[in-house]
Amino acid sequence: MYILDTTPTELDGLLHWFSDVFHKICVCLTALLASTGMFTQQSYLLGLGIADITGPVVETNMMGYASLPQTDTGLHMRQRSRAWIVADASNPSDRFVYINADIAMGDTGLRRSIVEQLSSMYPDLYNNENIALGSTHSHSGVGGYLENLLPQITSKGYVKETADAIVAGTVLAVKRAHESLQPGQLSLGNTTVLEANINRSPSAYLTNPAEERARYRYDQDKELTLLRFDDVSGNPRGFLSFFPVHGTSIYENNTLVSGDNKGMAAYLYEAMMEPHAMPGNNTFVAGFAQANVGDTSPNTEGAFCESPGQPWDGLPCEFDHSTCGNRTQDCHGRGPGFRISDFESNRIVAQRQVDGAKKLMSRSLPVISGPVVYVHTYLNMSYHSFQLPNGTTVQTCPPALGYSFAGGTTDGPGAFDFVQGDNSSSPRNPFWELVKGAVTPRPPVEQAECQYPKPILLNAGYASSPYTWSPHVVDIQLLRVGNLVILVMPGEMTTMAGRRLREVVRAQLISSGIVGDDAYVVVAGPANTYGHYVTTREEYAVQRYEGASTIYGQWTLDAYIDKYTDLVRFLKPGFTGTPESNDAPKDLTSKSITLRTGVIVDHAPLGKHFGDVLTDVLTNAPYHAGDTVSARFVGANPRNNLRLEETFLTVDQLMNGQWISVRSDSHPSTRFEWLRTSTTFGYSTVNISWTIEDITAPGTYRLTYLGDAKSLGGSISPFTGYSSSFTVS
Ligand SMILES: *[C@@H]1O[C@H](CO)[C@@H](O)[C@H](O)[C@H]1NC(C)=O
Ligand SMILES: *[C@@H]1O[C@H](CO)[C@@H](O)[C@H](O)[C@H]1NC(C)=O
Ligand SMILES: *[C@@H]1O[C@H](CO)[C@@H](O)[C@H](O)[C@H]1NC(C)=O
Ligand SMILES: *[C@@H]1O[C@H](CO)[C@@H](O)[C@H](O)[C@H]1NC(C)=O
Ligand SMILES: *[C@@H]1O[C@H](CO)[C@@H](O)[C@H](O)[C@H]1NC(C)=O
Ligand SMILES: *[C@@H]1O[C@H](CO)[C@@H](O)[C@H](O)[C@H]1NC(C)=O
Ligand SMILES: *[C@@H]1O[C@H](CO)[C@@H](O)[C@H](O)[C@H]1NC(C)=O
Ligand SMILES: *[C@@H]1O[C@H](CO)[C@@H](O)[C@H](O)[C@H]1NC(C)=O
Repeated sequence: MYILDTTPTELDGLLHWFSDVFHKICVCLTALLASTGMFTQQSYLLGLGIADITGPVVETNMMGYASLPQTDTGLHMRQRSRAWIVADASNPSDRFVYINADIAMGDTGLRRSIVEQLSSMYPDLYNNENIALGSTHSHSGVGGYLENLLPQITSKGYVKETADAIVAGTVLAVKRAHESLQPGQLSLGNTTVLEANINRSPSAYLTNPAEERARYRYDQDKELTLLRFDDVSGNPRGFLSFFPVHGTSIYENNTLVSGDNKGMAAYLYEAMMEPHAMPGNNTFVAGFAQANVGDTSPNTEGAFCESPGQPWDGLPCEFDHSTCGNRTQDCHGRGPGFRISDFESNRIVAQRQVDGAKKLMSRSLPVISGPVVYVHTYLNMSYHSFQLPNGTTVQTCPPALGYSFAGGTTDGPGAFDFVQGDNSSSPRNPFWELVKGAVTPRPPVEQAECQYPKPILLNAGYASSPYTWSPHVVDIQLLRVGNLVILVMPGEMTTMAGRRLREVVRAQLISSGIVGDDAYVVVAGPANTYGHYVTTREEYAVQRYEGASTIYGQWTLDAYIDKYTDLVRFLKPGFTGTPESNDAPKDLTSKSITLRTGVIVDHAPLGKHFGDVLTDVLTNAPYHAGDTVSARFVGANPRNNLRLEETFLTVDQLMNGQWISVRSDSHPSTRFEWLRTSTTFGYSTVNISWTIEDITAPGTYRLTYLGDAKSLGGSISPFTGYSSSFTVS
């Protein structure tokens, strides 16, 4: 008999054999019970939290479009961080926290501070390995928080207030999630969401092999994946979803701070669940996280020329280079609400993601069971050499940006005479040839060859004065719960790049026996560190914006595939040993430059007080749903107090003789706009407006302004202003 042949003869060998078989039977039985839905209800401890991370809403550059004139002037909706904690109930130190912040990208400096604070608040629970800082990739948030020099250029350096607000709010969101930990159940599913994204570089996508493209119906991923969080009774507490679409619904000319389509989607879902909670004061936490976002656009109508007077006005932009009359400036992507406004496009793209999530939340989804495991390492991408699966050794390069980076995209066109899709080595405008050498060091031959065929505009990897321009070291992190593996990505992968990475990692999970055939892999990013874009090698060759922004060269994707696949073995529970890691990036914040000046003083004009009404609401006729009611006040600089977790305005309703606040500055129906009227005297005004929603109850209302003024001596005093009361009928 087979067993007899292999049965150990010694007694302890026999015992070992029995215990091994017994263990295997137990594992099988548990899996069987789990798959029938029994036994699973208490397998995880789950926590969800949300908090405010909004930095200075005026006089600060916004992050995403890298546009110098995009300086914020007020608030549409506050930015939030949302956090989800998943812990193994039977071994609660096995846990991870995924953070989805309404910001453009994760950042090394932010993450370092967040990790420091959380690991000192909760020693042994949260650490550098199990905290993931993801972003919604919003392009309408407050800027200046990134640690490296290059993204600080348009914000005139580092803005500590922004970074501090993001860190404080994110730590608070995790703390709230931690305090909400309770047993519960996780389940996972996906659904197709059409008309919420398109490919903004289809000519680059088309360079991928035809056989590979033939395997996919669309040139974008259309699946929204959702991880549902329930309590032990099966009541939903929230979810974390993944769907790739750029946070560029709101255009580059907007100056009101907002959360773009994913921040809006989260608000819409949370408001639907808890209609009476003030935004951010909800317990149900809706997560709309970003996935392989690189070449996606929310401007689903396509890109058209806005060139009044030219024969090509109103025509689609040129396909390979996204130009109009050979220039990029007039080529603009249009969202689904473009005939009304970019804010309407934003709402529609948000609603389409909400509808997808709602569909999944109303279904019964496959329950997740299995261990909670994570792994994190640092990888230095400067001349990192590794082997391709066919044995050839290749390397990644120190960071560099190509000419087409300055061409921008159809979501935010570039400047001057740069276009997308420029991979030629011939000399260009002699002015740029001269200027680029003055901006960053000329690339040595090894860098130029490494980055080929990218013509280098900014040789960021060789620029370390006054401090590092772009990250050389990135975070590689994987989080696993049961059959779900989240690849936390330090960059923006294009559609096909994400597909390749997911596929190889999934195959490795299955072939190594770590997860079964139900292995489910998602890409989440840009997270942790901003390593710009990641295209396939074919897309890189044509150097559209995404290829020109693939800063570590043509083998970037393959290096990530190599590294993430290699780390899969650490996702086996009980696997011991530590993965190889490069050194953590250095803290640059101590060297950081800021050219920003503080608030000097606020004054009210002679005979006026802060909060006095300058232009009042209409009091002689009622307002109706759809109308915008507004008032202008004597203002003060909102940078004096960010009012985190609070509001700069309320809409109050008179109920039983008392004013009750029914709207805040985070309702999308309200706007807070600040205007400096005299720099010399420190005068400013504030316009508060409210577009009355259909659901608004008839009654008596007023607008309230909550401000803070700075005196010459530097003290800051709060004040309040009220409009007259008005009627909504
Ligand atoms: C969506 O779920 C189905 C069923 O689990 C699965 O076959 C498919 O691969 C999933 N889609 C993605 C993009 O993961
Ligand atoms: C921004 O640009 C769009 C499209 O060109 C235009 O419709 C819109 O009015 C502009 N918005 C602002 C605030 O200027
Ligand atoms: C937040 O919600 C709690 C509980 O519902 C409530 O007591 C509190 O007043 C709310 N705070 C605000 C600012 O709305
Ligand atoms: C665009 O460039 C092409 C090729 O250089 C040239 O033939 C064409 O006239 C240019 N079009 C315009 C509008 O300048
Ligand atoms: C990254 O690796 C390069 C090449 O080996 C080395 O010169 C550089 O010092 C490393 N950088 C960091 C931050 O470790
Ligand atoms: C290995 O694959 C790479 C990428 O496709 C290719 O450039 C290289 O020539 C291949 N090497 C061998 C030995 O086939
Ligand atoms: C440059 O891009 C063109 C398409 O625009 C492509 O045909 C060519 O192969 C690319 N050159 C290199 C060196 O990859
Ligand atoms: C305030 O701003 C709104 C919206 O931007 C505008 O419609 C309104 O006219 C402004 N009101 C005042 C009093 O300036």
